[in-house]
Amino acid sequence: MKKNIMQKWPLMAGLMAATGFSAQLHADEGMWIPMLLQQNEAEMQRMGLQLTAEDIYSLNHSSIKDAVVIFGGGCTGEVVSEQGLVLTNHHCGYNAIQYHSSVEHDYLTDGFWAGSFEEELPCPGLEVRFLKEIVDVTSPVLQGLDQNIPEQTRKDSVQVRSSRLSEPYQKEGYETRVVPFYYGNQYYLFVYEVYQDIRLVGTPPSNIGKFGGDTDNWMWPRHTGDFSVFRIYADSANRPAPYSASNRPYVPKHHLTIDLRGYQEGDFTFVVGYPGSTQEYISSYAVRLIENLIDPMRISARTERLDIIKAAMDRDPKTRIQYSAKAAGIANGWKKWQGEVKGLKRLNVVGSKQDYETVFQDWCSGNSGKAYAGVLPALKEAYQKLEPYQTLQIVFQEHVLAPEAVSFAYSFGTLHDVAAGIDTSRSLTSVLEACREKAELFFKDYDPAVDRAIFERLAFMLNEDGTRTQVIDFDGTTLKKQLDWFYGKSIFTSQERMAKFLDGFKPSSYKALERDPLFKYANVVYGQYFNQTAPFIRMFNAQIDSLQRLYMEGQMHLKESGDFASLEQIGLQNDIPLSNVGSERLYPDANFTMRVAYGQVKGFKPADAVEYAPYTTLAGIMEKEDPDIYDYVVEAKLKDLYARKDYGPYANELGEMPVAFVGTNHTTGGNSGSPVLNGDGNLIGINFDRNWEGTMSDVRYDPDMCRNIMLDIRYCLFVIDKFAGAQRLIDEMDIIKPDWYE
Ligand code: ARG
Ligand code: GLU
Repeated sequence: MKKNIMQKWPLMAGLMAATGFSAQLHADEGMWIPMLLQQNEAEMQRMGLQLTAEDIYSLNHSSIKDAVVIFGGGCTGEVVSEQGLVLTNHHCGYNAIQYHSSVEHDYLTDGFWAGSFEEELPCPGLEVRFLKEIVDVTSPVLQGLDQNIPEQTRKDSVQVRSSRLSEPYQKEGYETRVVPFYYGNQYYLFVYEVYQDIRLVGTPPSNIGKFGGDTDNWMWPRHTGDFSVFRIYADSANRPAPYSASNRPYVPKHHLTIDLRGYQEGDFTFVVGYPGSTQEYISSYAVRLIENLIDPMRISARTERLDIIKAAMDRDPKTRIQYSAKAAGIANGWKKWQGEVKGLKRLNVVGSKQDYETVFQDWCSGNSGKAYAGVLPALKEAYQKLEPYQTLQIVFQEHVLAPEAVSFAYSFGTLHDVAAGIDTSRSLTSVLEACREKAELFFKDYDPAVDRAIFERLAFMLNEDGTRTQVIDFDGTTLKKQLDWFYGKSIFTSQERMAKFLDGFKPSSYKALERDPLFKYANVVYGQYFNQTAPFIRMFNAQIDSLQRLYMEGQMHLKESGDFASLEQIGLQNDIPLSNVGSERLYPDANFTMRVAYGQVKGFKPADAVEYAPYTTLAGIMEKEDPDIYDYVVEAKLKDLYARKDYGPYANELGEMPVAFVGTNHTTGGNSGSPVLNGDGNLIGINFDRNWEGTMSDVRYDPDMCRNIMLDIRYCLFVIDKFAGAQRLIDEMDIIKPDWYE
């Protein structure tokens, strides 16, 4: 195989010369472990990187990795000043922004800019994590572990070994995680330093930070100014500490320089961040399940749920505010999965995986693949067994739990158990107080009429032929009668009834809970799920986990052995992640550990005769403006800046104000907020989305169609400076200005 590839290089070089593209030779696909980046260094440099792998990840001196953080629970952020200033997405800062928003200070609608350090707002619960070290612990974790022990026993052993291995790395303010790679064929230990005093510094109004809303979400061309600004605070020794007024801005080991000189199509870019999860190495059986069952079931359930919510939001501004975050969450997956199914079908991923599996199975009949001969048939069987339970699980998640009152009612189980004396581990007063708080949060954003409509509609499932099946069984009672009880009598669907119940609560009130129709119902449906579905899901998933581990190992051996010339012969070289043909290894699926992805700035062709440019400008915001549609309102201030072309150093050389751009960096959920860097390692953008046509990249990456969507750093700074007038933030950043600007 190696030989094959080598033979290809001169050919491609000739092609490159002929087309005049300097960056034809590129990876696009792949999310690489920063500690092992040496293996990509040559390719990255060929594509335009001016740095070494050591400049990106080093244990010995400060490097780019020291400026990248896990932001909150599932995003990435980057440090851009000596005083701990952090940039991330608006949608990543959303909870913190919402937390500080009230009718008097509606930062979601109006934006917020702290005028001084004193005005920066503490965000309880928000943390950032710096990666200190990655350690390969594969051999101590796996040593002597019997291949054939039950999956659970294996998990337990891995757990015990992992905590033992972590001990030497633990110290005050640190956190360690041992994470499986390649489905448990390798293990790495990650050491993080966790900062807890994070403050909100600034955010644009939603009509910038969320411009285009759910309509534009997952879409290119895009005009969303999806950023927000935070600051890390530390104690007097620059170490992590809980919030304290005496804490000081954190002094980072490294912070990024911002480059306002922009980019051209074809320029090299790389993204350092925390991609959450991908499944590039699963079998055709798994893809078929996603494409034919999991995604379509979720999509159709959510279509109905969103129909109801959106109609209610259009009718009533109060409902619009109450349900906006919920609707955004429901719609985000709903839209992504539709793009994913379309992409999987278009690329015939099931078919090409089947072809690949034939080659794999062939290889298994030879000597080097012998150990894997049984894995595909066993996977097939496991997925067949999983399927009916998978269906039940989605029915539970997307139908049974769609009306919010159900999980809300179930969450009062602790109150019941403590009051009834079944659970003596907690005091009744504290549990009651927790329920009070929970109820207040719940009813703040709850409309029982909407919830009832959802219940009524989602009690049914839409079949492929358009008929509907009732998926919730009330044992002879009609749905209408049940709903009258749930929404007319239960304490969980009325703030008044709930208040009365909690105010008059005494230990014997647990009996009232037992009589509550929704509490009863919730316990029945959860009980059914826990007893009749979850154990089977666990069992078959455990089988799949160990088979997938073996299958992954086989695929890695196949790749290393170079025996897959036959894949090329049948045109399958792109159908397992082989596009990094020059590299020794397959990249591991994403698992929310730091990765480096690289590619180039590049437009794409979404459909016949349609071609998308690689960047958008402020002019496009003006084109999209619609004062009557909430998501497309443009503020007078922005229009004025546009009219006067008052862009300062943030314009491009054509005098345009760039807003967003697309590239071929391989990213996924969790990469939100990730720094986008140029060949010099300077910040040129903030990652925030992918294109709809490319969302199947979590399963199959298509270099022609998959793009990540990035906020242009020039628009970000333009908004901070010209729109918000927060000059003090600009002053603390290191900025390279364009040559044309004096
Ligand atoms: N699609 C992006 C992501 O996957 C952004 C989501 C937030 N924006 C929204 N309009 N819902 O998370
Ligand atoms: N918006 C996504 C996030 O929150 C990133 C988009 C993607 O899935 O690539 O992480």
